[in-house]
Amino acid sequence: MSFCVAIDGPAAAGKGTVSKAVARHFGFPHLDTGLLYRATGAKTFEGLSPLEAAQSLTTADLERDDLRSGDAGQAASRVAAIPDVRSALVDFQQAFARRIGGAVLDGRDIGTVICPDAEVKLYITASDEVRARRRHAELVAKGENVTEAEVLADLRERDERDSARSAAPLKPRRGCHGDRYLGNVDRRSRGQGHRIG
Ligand code: DC
Repeated sequence: MSFCVAIDGPAAAGKGTVSKAVARHFGFPHLDTGLLYRATGAKTFEGLSPLEAAQSLTTADLERDDLRSGDAGQAASRVAAIPDVRSALVDFQQAFARRIGGAVLDGRDIGTVICPDAEVKLYITASDEVRARRRHAELVAKGENVTEAEVLADLRERDERDSARSAAPLKPRRGCHGDRYLGNVDRRSRGQGHRIG
């Protein structure tokens, strides 16, 4: 039997932390779908078109160590606005969502497009400032030289693009039927791969 837990929300809201905890608790595998877009964006740095990058994506691409950088985040948000790129990544995500035994997926469109009939849907958000503070600390720990103000501007730019695009935009779902809204989480503590595209 499959059982999909869909977790959506803006950048750095804490989706990853919640998803991993839910996955660990229930023994479900977890897919951070942002990594698919980050890996696609990162492959465009090497000269591939966004669609070529998405269509040639492998699980090995998801293990690149530059995927958490600010540049990869911006590139991800840009390629994620292209409908053909999103389409190339749908089958992999839907197959993961309907694995026998259950699955947790986090992203922007999991409960709306990838798995609209998910058994559990969560929408997680936090204030811009708290999200920027968390992401800044993560980036500094990885050795990036960036200010909190720059991270805040970057998050706001990505949120705007991710919400305004016509293809599978991020939509806050406060109070929607069947959804849980976990806002505001400001004060909560905190080889050859398989082809994807
Ligand atoms: O969750 P993240 O910050 O790693 O996501 C990086 C970008 O990928 C984000 O700005 C928007 C895009 N994305 C998306 O469009 N749909 C998803 N399901 C996941 C991420």
